[in-house]
Amino acid sequence: MTESTSPKHDSPEQATLAESTGAPPKHAASGESLLQVEDLVMEFPVGKGGLFRRAQETVHAVAGVSFDIKAGETLGLVGESGCGKTTTGRAVLQLHRPTSGSVKFEGRELTGLSANEMRPIRRDMQIVFQDPYASLNPRWTINDILTEPFEIHGVKNIDTRKRVGELLELVGLKPEHRNRYGHEFSGGQRQRIGVARALALNPKLIVLDEPVSALDVSVQAGVVNLLEDLQEELGLAYCFIAHDLSVVRHISDRVAVMYLGKIVEIGPRDEVYNNPRHPYTMALLSAAPEADPNEDGMRERIILTGDVPSPINPPSGCRFRTRCWKAQEKCAVEEPPLVDMGGGRLAACHFPATDLATEAAAAHAHRDKVQPDLLATQLTS
Ligand SMILES: Nc1ncnc2c1ncn2[C@@H]1O[C@H](COP(=O)(O)OP(=O)(O)OP(=O)(O)O)[C@@H](O)[C@H]1O
Ligand code: SF4
Ligand SMILES: [Mg+2]
Repeated sequence: MTESTSPKHDSPEQATLAESTGAPPKHAASGESLLQVEDLVMEFPVGKGGLFRRAQETVHAVAGVSFDIKAGETLGLVGESGCGKTTTGRAVLQLHRPTSGSVKFEGRELTGLSANEMRPIRRDMQIVFQDPYASLNPRWTINDILTEPFEIHGVKNIDTRKRVGELLELVGLKPEHRNRYGHEFSGGQRQRIGVARALALNPKLIVLDEPVSALDVSVQAGVVNLLEDLQEELGLAYCFIAHDLSVVRHISDRVAVMYLGKIVEIGPRDEVYNNPRHPYTMALLSAAPEADPNEDGMRERIILTGDVPSPINPPSGCRFRTRCWKAQEKCAVEEPPLVDMGGGRLAACHFPATDLATEAAAAHAHRDKVQPDLLATQLTS
């Protein structure tokens, strides 16, 4: 990534959001637990066959995930497409009503709250979406977009004109941009507007769902730096969802790795990245372009066999077992719990990974063994 867009602290006149509200910052002290998620389950019934048949199957999109986020902290959430990252983020915000499990925000249980009861809490928990093109109403000016949160939440006695100007400055745009429409901005600028909207009500937690994935690499760094600056200034906590492992590594304090609806490894960023213990984490990291080459300039890569199974009918025991080179009988019958693997990190595996060279060799041998079988099955089926 290269820097391109302007940082937000260009001008000394730029006001902080706290100044704009006239209120002192309301955030919990950094390090205090803000969000606690326990055994969160999100299932979607889906129809089978024709249009009017009854729902007969269930997508197990999120299958019992637990994590917490502290005030001022960034938790990165990574994993392949379809593993349940967005669903987790939305269920945390109660945009999907969880099937079961607990979501506590500042100690208050959110599951089961009515829409009215949730409304004041929504001010503190915001979301930024992946697609900056789809997320801004094309018929609205930026002013309309940024004043909407105040209208929805009935915030009165506020100088919205002043606040919109300050929000735009906070994200590195100009107050005079307020009368333009979304299509007049670049992707990076649109995402800055999305961030400004999320900041409008001075939240404590923002779920950032792939906030830079749709942007050119050249403007990603500007938006990531902006998010970091805002976090420092406003004491925000982030749940940062992304495919891009290098961006997650850059921004996260802790990282959670998901596979087929489960968190398979979670812990401090450097522990997870430098010394992964779950075979899936190791495979994912080894395949990332930024993985460190070894002394010979070669990179050990673990190439997984097979596809991700359907979340409608996930494998028994360990969900990763159909692609894992270390799988044994126990893996099919006993679901591995997340256990302490040292260094503040938890991983869910009966036979944790050792070092990359050993595991890559074992994975390679496993592939050579199962690949002809796979091919034969495909040819005969
Ligand atoms: N409303 C829904 N109804 C049925 N299935 C859904 C629904 N929303 C998500 N799913 C399914 O749940 C699973 C998890 O989806 P989700 O969007 O959370 O994954 P993701 O990790 O965010 O993927 P991506 O990286 O592609 O954004 C997928 O199999 C998806 O098809
Ligand atoms: S529990 Fe078994 S199948 Fe699952 S990741 Fe560990 S070794 Fe592989
Ligand atoms: Mg997603």
